[in-house]
Amino acid sequence: MNENGNGTRYGLVVAIDGPAGAGKSTVAQHLARRFGLLNLETGAMYRALALKALQRGTTVDDAEEVLALTGHTRIVLEPSDAGNRVLLDGEDVTAELRAPQVTTAASFVSVHGPVREWMVRAQRSLGLASPAGVVMEGRDIGTVVFPDAPVKIFLDASVEARGDRRFAQQPTAAESRDALLHQMRDRDTRDRERVQSPLRPAADAVLLDTTTLSLEQVLQRTEQLVQAHLDSRSSN
Ligand code: DC
Repeated sequence: MNENGNGTRYGLVVAIDGPAGAGKSTVAQHLARRFGLLNLETGAMYRALALKALQRGTTVDDAEEVLALTGHTRIVLEPSDAGNRVLLDGEDVTAELRAPQVTTAASFVSVHGPVREWMVRAQRSLGLASPAGVVMEGRDIGTVVFPDAPVKIFLDASVEARGDRRFAQQPTAAESRDALLHQMRDRDTRDRERVQSPLRPAADAVLLDTTTLSLEQVLQRTEQLVQAHLDSRSSN
């Protein structure tokens, strides 16, 4: 258990950040199982808000309109072994969140500062509510959501490697590999260049470039990082 500045006690937080397709979800799911932690995918929350914006005809690049939507939106992540179930205003929308138009809308929705603040508050309370601890993955977990997380991992890979992995995961999708790479570059630019909490590694994050690593190597290396922290905690 750790204590934050307000004296609230919470479990281990493993922060995993990085661009789309770097392997965050696979790593997060593995670490959560291996160490008995909850796995929380913060990207799913941005996707759920984007889905609602699309359903309501909200202009996703209008900060005020999107923020107004948050005033009557409730997003709940229900972690399970198979991944996160996402409830949007009580309705299970998990199956709809990977649609290409939701992916693009989520990228726009997540640029707005006040929307991010709303998300960060919700994500902190989800994390603090798990006494066992969490693996939380996203873009700003180590820099903004849990800057005190004792284990921070920043996964990266070349855009070509990330695009190929995504393409292999969804071979039946209508998009060509080139279209997917193009979208990924656009999303990378929005993630890295937004004014509020742009995608970047925290100063104390361990950087892992997975371009030439096998999945096995990535899982082994990240597992070692968590284990090293647990070992250092038990010897203190
Ligand atoms: O990880 P993902 O592809 O499901 O994320 C969907 C979008 O949400 C992506 O465009 C980046 C954004 N996002 C973010 O800005 N901050 C996070 N902590 C998680 C996701």
